[in-house]
Amino acid sequence: MIRAIMHGCNGHMGQTISRLVAEDDGIEIVAGVDPYTEVANTYPVFATIDACDVDADVIIDFSNAKAVDALLDYAVAKQVPVVLCTTGLSEEQLAKVAEASKKVAILKAANMSLGINTLMDLLKKATAVFADAGFDIEIVEKHHNQKLDAPSGTAIALADSINEVLDNEYEYNYDRSKDRKKREKKEIGIVSVRGGNIVGEHEVIFAGMDEVITFKHTATSKGVFGKGAVEAAKFLAGKAAGMYDMQDVIAAK
Ligand SMILES: NC(=O)c1ccc[n+]([C@@H]2O[C@H](COP(=O)([O-])OP(=O)(O)OC[C@H]3O[C@@H](n4cnc5c(N)ncnc54)[C@H](O)[C@@H]3O)[C@@H](O)[C@H]2O)c1
Repeated sequence: MIRAIMHGCNGHMGQTISRLVAEDDGIEIVAGVDPYTEVANTYPVFATIDACDVDADVIIDFSNAKAVDALLDYAVAKQVPVVLCTTGLSEEQLAKVAEASKKVAILKAANMSLGINTLMDLLKKATAVFADAGFDIEIVEKHHNQKLDAPSGTAIALADSINEVLDNEYEYNYDRSKDRKKREKKEIGIVSVRGGNIVGEHEVIFAGMDEVITFKHTATSKGVFGKGAVEAAKFLAGKAAGMYDMQDVIAAK
C-alpha cells in the first residue's frame, strides 16, 4: 500500500483526491497538510508541511504557489517524491523545482488528466502526417465564465506538443481581428470561448482540402485531474531523483 501525504488536503482538489483514494486499495492518505482546518478528515492534518512527522512514500500537492518553496525543501530533506500540481509558479520557483529534482523525484504537469496527456501523444502522430499533407491546424478551447487566463494553459500545452513535431517553426495566432490578411501557413490559431460553468473543452482541428479531422477532449468534472494525480502518485512512489511528467505515467501503462 502506497502511503501519501495530501498537501492542500482541505481545498477543492485535496478533497476530490481524498474521496478517490478512499475507494482505492493501492494507496492511502496517511496525513494531510492545510492551514485551513475546518474540515473533518479520516487522517491527521498539519497546519504546515514542516509540522508533519508522518512517514510517507509520496506527496500529492494541490495547494498554493506560496506553499511550494517549503514543500520542495521538505521533499528534499525527507527524500519523499512529489506530484506537483499547483500552478502559477514563478520563474524562481520553477528553477527551484528543477534544482530539487536533482535530489528527489518530482512529477509536474499543468494538466493532470490522462485524457489530455494521451491526446498530446496522439496529436504528435497526427501532426507528423497532416502537416506535411498541407492541413491547417487550429485550436478552440471553452471554459467557464470565472476563468481569468486566456487561452488556457492546456491549449498552449497542446499547441506546444504539435509544434514540437514542427521543429517549433509555427507561430500561435490568438487574435485575427487586427490584420486583414489570409492565415499564414505556419501558424496555429488558438481561440477562447468563455461562458457558464463549462469545466473545460479542447478541440484541435486539422483542416485540409475536402476533409477535416477533429480531436476533442471534454472534462465534465475536476475529478479527471484527481484521477490523473492518483495515477501519478502510484507511478512516482519509489522512483529515483529526476523530473517526470504525465507522459512517463502513460508510457509505463
Ligand atoms: N495540474 C492540474 O491538473 C491542476 C488541476 C486543478 C487545479 N490545479 C491547481 O492546484 C491548485 C489547487 O487547486 P484547488 O482548486 O484545489 O484550490 P483550492 O483553493 O480549493 O485549495 C487549495 C488549498 O491549499 C491550501 N493551502 C494554502 N496554503 C497552504 C500551505 N502553505 N500548505 C498546505 N496547504 C495550503 C488552502 O488552504 C486550500 O485548502 C491551484 O494552483 C490550481 O491551479 C492544477
